[in-house]
Amino acid sequence: MMLDIRDLRVTFGTRQVLHGIDLSLARGRTLGVVGESGSGKSVMALAVMGLLPGTARATGRIGFDGRDILTMPERDLCRLRGNRIGMIFQEPMTALNPAMRIGAQIAEGLILHQRMSRRDARKRALELMQMVRIARATERIDSFPHELSGGQRQRVGIAMALAMKPDLLIADEPTTALDVTVQARILDILDDLVTDLGIALMLISHDPGVIARIADDTLVMYRGTMIEHGPTERILRSPGHDYTRSLLDAMPRRVRETLGDAP
Ligand SMILES: Nc1ncnc2c1ncn2[C@@H]1O[C@H](COP(=O)(O)OP(=O)(O)OP(=O)(O)O)[C@@H](O)[C@H]1O
Ligand SMILES: [Mg+2]
Repeated sequence: MMLDIRDLRVTFGTRQVLHGIDLSLARGRTLGVVGESGSGKSVMALAVMGLLPGTARATGRIGFDGRDILTMPERDLCRLRGNRIGMIFQEPMTALNPAMRIGAQIAEGLILHQRMSRRDARKRALELMQMVRIARATERIDSFPHELSGGQRQRVGIAMALAMKPDLLIADEPTTALDVTVQARILDILDDLVTDLGIALMLISHDPGVIARIADDTLVMYRGTMIEHGPTERILRSPGHDYTRSLLDAMPRRVRETLGDAP
């Protein structure tokens, strides 16, 4: 297993916000994490990135390729974030530099971390933009972030994460800010990356419809506790918990129909 979390507990002061999470994720697989606001999804993601704030206390084990992220020195964590674990944010504008052309922005990481020449990095940036299906990439490579639509900006965010050739991608609500059709296209891109590149994807969403669309396995969180974990299909068809059932009831009929179990 690439990622293997055992009994992860996180406390802020006297307040415990994760109460023992256990999960594993293999290459080429997508794990969906779903749960209401405040259930601990982002705290879990930050823990895996080794980015919990200093005020947090974490116990348990976050195994990544056999090493424990919780006890790793900061220097090794930096290296891990630079080239093994990539993160895609909800609002890509926060990850993008508004004053820098997007091609240069994607290329920057390649020049810095992979010691590519300026010319090779630009070529690779263009390839990455095409990989995430940015139309007319040869023109847009010299655009500024504000000249792109929200969906295109999110594609740039994905391209930047991919530039580092990560083995694990963590996407925290990557499509929440987008309208439904754009959201579907971004999910398709992520799904293809998992299949084509063999990346492991942890996809966080409060929307079970998003999870249903691409996750092989699903983790349902409720107030810092995992209340379900298993194959997505099984959880959607026969939820073992009232909370999951209410989540699914709130799901649009359209999504349930694609799962084949609408009345
Ligand atoms: N830096 C922090 N200091 C103190 N408490 C925190 C901190 N970060 C998160 N928490 C608390 O941890 C709990 C889980 O928060 P988290 O951000 O993981 O929720 P979430 O599931 O990602 O919610 P959302 O869907 O709104 O993004 C919340 O009760 C939150 O208030
Ligand atoms: Mg969150």
